[in-house]
Amino acid sequence: MCGIIAGISEEDIAPLLIEGLMRVEYRGYDSAGIATVHDGELEVRKAVGRIDGLERTQRASTLAGNTGVGHTRWATHGGVTKANAHPHTSCGNKVAVVHNGIIENYLELREELKQKGHVFTSETDTEVIPHLVEEALKRKKDPLKATLNAVKKLKGQYAIVVMFKDYPEVLTGARNDAPLVVGVGKKEMFLASDVLAFIARTDQAVFLDNMEAVSVTAGGYKVYRFDGSEVSKKPTQLAWELSDLSKQDYAHYTLKEIHEQPETVVRAALQDPRRLENFVRILKGATSVVLTASGSSYHAALLLKDRLSREAKIRCDAVLAGEFEDQAHFVERGTVVVAFSQSGETADLLRAVKVGKDRGASVISIVNAAGSSLARESDEVLTLNCGPEVGVAATKSFTAQVMVGNVVADAVVGENATGDAKKVGRLIAETLRSEDSVRQVAKEFKERPDFYFIARGHNYPIALEGALKLKELSYLHAEGMPASELKHGTLALIEKGTPVVVIAPSGEGFSATISNALELDARGAEVIGISDKVHPVFKHRIAIPRSNEKVAPILEAVPLQLLAYFIATERKNDPDYPRNLAKSVTVR
Ligand code: F6R
Repeated sequence: MCGIIAGISEEDIAPLLIEGLMRVEYRGYDSAGIATVHDGELEVRKAVGRIDGLERTQRASTLAGNTGVGHTRWATHGGVTKANAHPHTSCGNKVAVVHNGIIENYLELREELKQKGHVFTSETDTEVIPHLVEEALKRKKDPLKATLNAVKKLKGQYAIVVMFKDYPEVLTGARNDAPLVVGVGKKEMFLASDVLAFIARTDQAVFLDNMEAVSVTAGGYKVYRFDGSEVSKKPTQLAWELSDLSKQDYAHYTLKEIHEQPETVVRAALQDPRRLENFVRILKGATSVVLTASGSSYHAALLLKDRLSREAKIRCDAVLAGEFEDQAHFVERGTVVVAFSQSGETADLLRAVKVGKDRGASVISIVNAAGSSLARESDEVLTLNCGPEVGVAATKSFTAQVMVGNVVADAVVGENATGDAKKVGRLIAETLRSEDSVRQVAKEFKERPDFYFIARGHNYPIALEGALKLKELSYLHAEGMPASELKHGTLALIEKGTPVVVIAPSGEGFSATISNALELDARGAEVIGISDKVHPVFKHRIAIPRSNEKVAPILEAVPLQLLAYFIATERKNDPDYPRNLAKSVTVR
């Protein structure tokens, strides 16, 4: 988490930093800051809160200078205060640093530096870095060598960019287990956590790997290993479509992204045939398969697990990425790990992939960000092709993951069970016509403190997904569970008026789910049905079109996204930037 953008340009850099920060704000939005060097002075502007606040209160974009660093924070060490916001500077104000990640040994480094007379002004782990660089600069009058010297002392996960008061023509950066990308422009150069930060200026990117450092000037870049040896790295061309980040006429990115789904599922199904063939070949050759992911991506993984084990009889497990290391006892040579991720930078997932590889497994992934660490660590990759997702809650990336999972499962079983992707897109468009009825339900239930979501069989991951969406956007308590599980305990919590969302598409499992809904109704619950069928037990019904069991989970997810969105807006929450969260979770 935390977003970094830094750059050197012939133009004033501050407006470019502010624009770039807004594009990586999804990575954290507790506080923000920028610093530039101009006329031999290093100047910093910071503020608690979002980037528009930094601009409003500090007029940050008016800072002069061609070299600068910027940061948007998701607090890990130290509260959300102006002092803890980045950039952090050394005591002599000679060095400014922005950092994404965690420095594990910061307490001991801080003590050592204090002994040497350094004075600290924040509670962050980051602040040790500018002091370390300043110390190193005393001995090595060279920005890159000083940076390499400092990073050798750091333990943890980090991407950093360092700016120097006395060397305004250069920026240095380093990465270990957190993303850092160089944007190679015409007479300008950027360093950022995500290509989105600079895509409006250049489509040429150099992705740094772990234990690599970089030195950039306006005219060029050089990449080094941490031992100081140079690495030759050529830029990759990015897709310019990434630059379209407008909300169009929608009130929020989240709503826009929900409405993009009729098109994004179609693009998700358009996989490169050679890659798909290789992906399926690896999967079929597995002695066992472990699917892994976090959050919503995990729910998409559960759906593929269901299809692979039920239809293709492949021995499959689905393990939360953060639990992988503790549960990976049977992962060995011959195992295939299938990793799902929107960002491709989730630290828990990257750790799971490393553990899997160390145990001899192959790794294949389904990911949105094509240049991400996960994509680069994988033996084969299928991309979601759904464009950048700005809203912190996964919406279009989730349905795209389910669609890619369906394409994979269809290829494994050798049939097109999902049906024509364009038809799926049309069914989503039809589902979106329920928007008004979802808004009415949201208005009626917005003050209820607890929600339950139930479903059976292959629809169960959607109960989990519906509950997760509601929690993160509305800040209300929600639980998703198999319908069969209610009577084993949770039924005790049902009171008069408790809303229970019952996901009950027609087909196998409908009658059993309805029986559970009747049990809930008998205990006073207000049953909100998500179904293509009408039933008297539904106090409210949100209609989805009739489909098949491969497509139904995609259609069910859409009204649940809308429900969470509308309850959030009714409660005056910002659905794009829910409190305490960040989109790309790069700490473990
Ligand atoms: C929920 C949500 C998160 C992510 C999770 C994994 O709406 O967005 O639960 O799904 O943090 O992120 P990725 O998919 O980027 O690995």
